[in-house]
Amino acid sequence: MKILVTGGAGFIGSNLVGTLLKDDKISLVRVFDNYSTGFKKNIEEYFEHPKFEMHEGDIRDYEACLKACEAIDVVSHQAAMGSVPRSIKDPITTNQINISGTLNVFAAAKEQGIKKIVYAASSSTYGDDKNLPKVEDRIGRPLSPYAITKLVNELYAQVFTDLYEMNFIGLRYFNVFGPKQDPNGAYAAVIPLFMKAALENSQPKINGDGSYSRDFTYVQNAVQANIKAIFSDDKANNQVYNIAFGQSTTLNELWGFIQEVSSCTNPAIHGPNRAGDIPHSLAAISKAQEFLGYQPEYDVKKGLLEAFQWYKENL
Ligand SMILES: NC(=O)c1ccc[n+]([C@@H]2O[C@H](COP(=O)([O-])OP(=O)(O)OC[C@H]3O[C@@H](n4cnc5c(N)ncnc54)[C@H](O)[C@@H]3O)[C@@H](O)[C@H]2O)c1
Repeated sequence: MKILVTGGAGFIGSNLVGTLLKDDKISLVRVFDNYSTGFKKNIEEYFEHPKFEMHEGDIRDYEACLKACEAIDVVSHQAAMGSVPRSIKDPITTNQINISGTLNVFAAAKEQGIKKIVYAASSSTYGDDKNLPKVEDRIGRPLSPYAITKLVNELYAQVFTDLYEMNFIGLRYFNVFGPKQDPNGAYAAVIPLFMKAALENSQPKINGDGSYSRDFTYVQNAVQANIKAIFSDDKANNQVYNIAFGQSTTLNELWGFIQEVSSCTNPAIHGPNRAGDIPHSLAAISKAQEFLGYQPEYDVKKGLLEAFQWYKENL
């Protein structure tokens, strides 16, 4: 099987590429990435691997997408402009990459006769729905431009399924963390920022009183879901799945766990809540368990331990 990973130089994509390359059933892993928020250093170790191929390019370029999709069996579409705050600052670029870019990838795959696409969806699609845990068929109103783009991706996948006999699996990731997640820049996620604070012996900033909670998901759980989706049988196709651990952790608890693994004792500094943030997010993962055979192996603490080791060696 030959796989194209768009966004393969990014955080989740590069972790996925590492696992795909070890799989005997896979003969080619081609990465398509423009290195905008991803890094060469995330995948450099694979450049000499006989099954690895790099295509540097932009998903906003349809011709480049067509080339990237040549002779591919399954597309794993991870490329996107992530981050809710970034989308609030720059909704136009977010729309161009996440909606038009994704449409290019889907259309190029269709043109090249590819029958299956697994794509990164998002828990942000639940929007202002207050029910917990989140179940796949009950979503609210989007709260950010980013959330709109991820919802539109799901709608396109549905329409492509109906019109072109292609199979899609959407993975709604919940707050993924782990090695290779960028701790730098204005849009860094909370766990890399906390890791950095712990290693620099500074105080992390918590938006709000720290009672907001998330279903933090170690990246190897997300990688497992992607592999299961790539090799899934027909009954799993043309659905979206929550990909999380299924455990709620507040930001205060999170900093407590990181204090434990790092031995940093500094208290956090609290600031105002951030626009577009929902108070709580927790996934029901039974659908992914039933249809994909997804069994997350890392709870938050186990994941934080591995992630901390990586930041210690790489920051
Ligand atoms: N990290 C999370 O918690 C999380 C949660 C929900 C959904 N997601 C989704 O998962 C996917 C991967 O996210 P990530 O956290 O690894 O982010 P990331 O920013 O590390 O990875 C995205 C990758 O896409 C590439 N990319 C961006 N724009 C591109 C373009 N125009 N053309 C080609 N490549 C482009 C970047 O260079 C980067 O390598 C994204 O679709 C994101 O929206 C992530």
